[in-house]
Order: sequence, then C-alpha cells, then structure tokens
Amino acid sequence: MHKLEQIYEGKAKKVYKTDDPELYIVDYKDDATAFNGLKKGTIAGKGIINNQMSNRLMQMIERKGVPTHFVKELSERETLVKKVSIVPLEVIVRNIAAGSFSKRYGVDEGMVFDEPVIEFSYKNDALGDPLLNTDHALALKVATRTEIDTIKTYALQVNSILKAFWAECGVTLVDFKLEFGKTSDGSIILADEISPDTCRLWDSATGEKLDKDRFRRDLGGVEEAYAEIMKRLVDHEEK
Ligand code: TMP
Repeated sequence: MHKLEQIYEGKAKKVYKTDDPELYIVDYKDDATAFNGLKKGTIAGKGIINNQMSNRLMQMIERKGVPTHFVKELSERETLVKKVSIVPLEVIVRNIAAGSFSKRYGVDEGMVFDEPVIEFSYKNDALGDPLLNTDHALALKVATRTEIDTIKTYALQVNSILKAFWAECGVTLVDFKLEFGKTSDGSIILADEISPDTCRLWDSATGEKLDKDRFRRDLGGVEEAYAEIMKRLVDHEEK
C-alpha cells in the first residue's frame, strides 16, 4: 500500500489517499503547536513515538471491544487507517482536574473526581474549539443523538481501558482527548490518535508530567518525557 495524493495536513499529521478508496495513510510529524497554533515548535522524535504509541493503544482498545480506525503500521511514522469523516467534536474525558477545567472552574490541578467527566468541544479552529454540550451538538447537527450516545459509551470504555493500563505502567491518566469518525457504512469508530500530545499522563509516584504539558508550559525535558512514557509502555509489554 503506498501514498497517493495528500488530502489533509494538520498540526501534527498528514493524511494521504491510497489505491483503496476505504483506506488512508497517516504520516506523523514532529511539529507541535499549542493554544490553537499560537505556540509553535518541534519535538524531535515525537512523530515516531505518537505513531507507535497510538497504534499499540488502539489495538488494545479494539481487542477490548471498541472499534478503531487502525489497520496496519507501515513504518516508524506511517499507519494505514480506515477512511472516516471526522465528527467535529473533541471528546475529552477527565479523571482529575487539570488544564482548562481547573482554570474555568477555579479548582486546583490534582483534584480527583468521583466519576469521570465527559466534555465536548466543537472542532473549529476559527472559533477556538468552544466548549459545547449535547444539545448544542444536536442543534448544530454535528451528530445524531444515537451517535452522541455511542461516542459517550465508547469514550468511557476507552477511559476504563487506558486508566487501568497506564496504572500498571506506574502512570496516572489525568485526562485525554478523543476524536471519532464515521465510516462509509455509517458506523462510529475511534480515530485520530492517542498519544502524549492528547493525554495528560503523570508519573504515579512523583507526579512528574510525562506529556505535552511540558511543551505547552515550557517545563523543559520535553523529548525526555516522550521517551520516558514510551519506555513505560514498552517495558510493560515485555513483562
Ligand atoms: P484541556 O484541559 O486543555 O482542555 O485539555 C484536556 C485534554 O485534551 C488534555 O489531555 C490535552 C488534550 N487536548 C488535545 O488533545 N488537543 C487540544 O487542542 C487541547 C486543547 C487539549
């Protein structure tokens, strides 16, 4: 399977057509942005880590019953995925207060929730991805009620799977962002990526941040954190 024309270039990935109309190739870059593209940089080797980590996590999630876009890893940075049209929602699941939740509601980062919190943002760069609820999403016709119910069910299942997995790696899953897509037959599947770009991952023992917040907040040790979180995953596989 090889790349045909590029159909999309995002902040961290490029997407190409292939000779199979139902399959795309995703190519992960080292480019990093934050604050809706205001802050720009490069994280050396990030594309490789995000590709490999996302693929391993997606395969685990698929085995446990949530359908994903993953088909086959083609190279260090390239993966064959199912063609979807992305539902324009950023689906955020939070276990612990951090980031925009802490800022918006004035609570300290680290407050542990009794139940996971699901939050939607409307994927729209021009509007700065505004927060929205289910009624807003229905009014905007970004998805049907059935699709939103499916997305919420899948998001909570993914949270249970990832939370348990990262705990075994000595890592606390604070929060993360998912994106879902619709295949040509209309089914909803997990798409995009699951990586240190899209998750908050804290060392369970020390609380050290092992994710993109090191870049967003200029904490230093960005490449080292990506390498460390990948090592935790690989070490777990070897056990
Ligand atoms: P937030 O606290 O800034 O809203 O972020 C919540 C989670 O979503 C966090 O794990 C980082 C992730 N995220 C993305 O993947 N993409 C984004 O554009 C933003 C703002 C957050």
